[in-house]
Amino acid sequence: WLLPATLLVLGYLLGSIPFGLLLTRIGGAGDLRQIGSGNIGATNVLRTGRKGLAAATLLLDLAKGAAAVGVGAWMLDGGGPMAGVMAFIGHCYPVWLRFAGGKGVATMMGVVTALYWPAGIVFAVVWLGMLFGTKWSSVGGMSAAISAPVALWFMGRIDLVPVALAMALILLWRHRANIARLVKGTEPKIGRSKTETP
Ligand code: G3P
Repeated sequence: WLLPATLLVLGYLLGSIPFGLLLTRIGGAGDLRQIGSGNIGATNVLRTGRKGLAAATLLLDLAKGAAAVGVGAWMLDGGGPMAGVMAFIGHCYPVWLRFAGGKGVATMMGVVTALYWPAGIVFAVVWLGMLFGTKWSSVGGMSAAISAPVALWFMGRIDLVPVALAMALILLWRHRANIARLVKGTEPKIGRSKTETP
């Protein structure tokens, strides 16, 4: 039991590194939790006007999800999905930020891609398509998350469907404020004023 427990903790710790918050602080762009939506993800880093930092946040949040899957699979046969989900949970509920973390889009993309890359391609295509189609980052992320379990099902990776479904449900729950804003018509689109407060 020691190995699976270590793997769960490692996955969680890896996922709980708040790259967006750290990069904006190091980059002198202020406290991300006081800016825009207050979220610690790449979309909100973009609202500081620092595109490079936003891209780095996206890549690092994605990489930590993928790395957790890699380490999990290396440590234990079949440990990839478990470690990946724990990294996703670590990102959304990090102990360091009193469990108030991110919304999980980039990290889920990293986990899904590392588990089964064709589903990662579907995730990325749906995400970019909906993001640029609607200009709502949240709609892009939520659509991509829902597409993952569906894609895995049609690709015959039924074994990974529960893991992807669990992440998609948590991701939707983390976007509940965005959903409320979308219903009210007040969700900001990307590429608008960086001082805009949703
Ligand atoms: O990945 C987060 C994105 O879907 C929404 O971010 O800052 O607009 O709430 P935000």
